[in-house]
Amino acid sequence: MEHICAIDIGSSLFRVLVGRQPSIQENSIEILGLGSVPSAGVKTGSIINIEDASQAISEAIHEAEMMSGVTIESATVNVSGRHLQSENSRGVVAISSQDRTVSSEDVLRVIEGAQNIRIPSEQEVLHVLSKEFNIDEQDGIRDPIGMKGTRLEAEVHIVTAGITSLSNLNKAVSSCEIQLDGGVMSSLASAESFLSRQDKELGVLVIDIGGGVTDLILYSEGGALFSAVLPIGGIHITQDLSIGLKIPMEAAEFVKKNYGSSYAANVDPTEKIELPGVSGRPSRHVLRQKAVEIIEARLREIFEMTVRLFAQSEYNKSLSAGIMLCGGCALLEDIEDLAEEVIGFCSTVQYPRNIKGFSDQVSLPEFTTSVGILQYNQRMNALSNRQKYISVPSIFQRLKTWFVENL
Ligand SMILES: Nc1ncnc2c1ncn2[C@@H]1O[C@H](COP(=O)(O)OP(=O)(O)OP(=O)(O)O)[C@@H](O)[C@H]1O
Ligand SMILES: [Mg+2]
Repeated sequence: MEHICAIDIGSSLFRVLVGRQPSIQENSIEILGLGSVPSAGVKTGSIINIEDASQAISEAIHEAEMMSGVTIESATVNVSGRHLQSENSRGVVAISSQDRTVSSEDVLRVIEGAQNIRIPSEQEVLHVLSKEFNIDEQDGIRDPIGMKGTRLEAEVHIVTAGITSLSNLNKAVSSCEIQLDGGVMSSLASAESFLSRQDKELGVLVIDIGGGVTDLILYSEGGALFSAVLPIGGIHITQDLSIGLKIPMEAAEFVKKNYGSSYAANVDPTEKIELPGVSGRPSRHVLRQKAVEIIEARLREIFEMTVRLFAQSEYNKSLSAGIMLCGGCALLEDIEDLAEEVIGFCSTVQYPRNIKGFSDQVSLPEFTTSVGILQYNQRMNALSNRQKYISVPSIFQRLKTWFVENL
């Protein structure tokens, strides 16, 4: 059975997973090995120092190889950062065959036509996520091939990425002597690890709060409709605690993970926590509520920014499947309550689903991106050729296929 490998280049940690599909019938993924090392050379989701990043990737790969006994030759990587941009678009073509049956060529043409948007010269297309197709007056068609009509229309969500950022990713991975199979937007990968088809139909907003960024993706009526990256994450919460409580970053990280919470009103106002002494001074006590207020303020900012972007997306339907939270910060106590209060939809914390093997080690909200990359790969590999749309961003020359989702 063929192995697949995922590299999650995060602002806090780099994670490498080696997995395989246990059998053709199963849609689960078996995790054979993992490597996890502190991130290096990355800021707000993007590589800023190729050499440092490359060295850390090598270490994580080595760990995953030792654990799995598999030599990693190629991998798929996540793509995140402020350089990501997205836009919805439509394409229309006349159905070409004599008998007016939609062929895969028609689908290719309509998807290509939908990409006829103005893309800045420093950006290139990363994903074309198809939402639905319309044939003549019939809308909401998922797979149009074989259906009859005269006019085929496609609605797509196009994600573009900065050419320099993609090139840096490519260089960092390639210099570990790993062939890059492709890149998956982080939010898309995270969503893949826990969203069901039904969630996507009902409407769901995925919020992945990591260390340096918060990755967002909204699905409605089965397809992606909106995606964005906010340049704030858990590292900012730690910085705020460090400044607010006058403690070093390591101590602030400890306080966040061990005494942190998201909703100050839920915290006992008399509860105290011990802060380690700085520069030889004795330790001191502060009210836990004070620390939680600092955390809450930053999380509120993330959720308020989400609401503003969400409003700009002109999405006016309900999120019947609610808000799904993941990323390391989703482990902060009561985060669902705060998300619900600020954004106004019921919210849940998500863990990667359908995993076997070392599932206990990766069953955490912070592993949704890396597990999701494996699952995304697996799902795309299972698509028949006629369902694949092949488009190769020039930056990933060796990339085999690039897919349209949901065909
Ligand atoms: N138990 C916990 N409680 C609170 N915060 C946590 C916990 N575990 C991890 N975190 C925080 O989650 C953040 C890291 O999340 P994650 O691993 O998802 O980020 P990343 O993928 O490396 O970065 P990014 O996606 O932003 O580039 C850190 O700020 C870390 O402090
Ligand atoms: Mg992440």
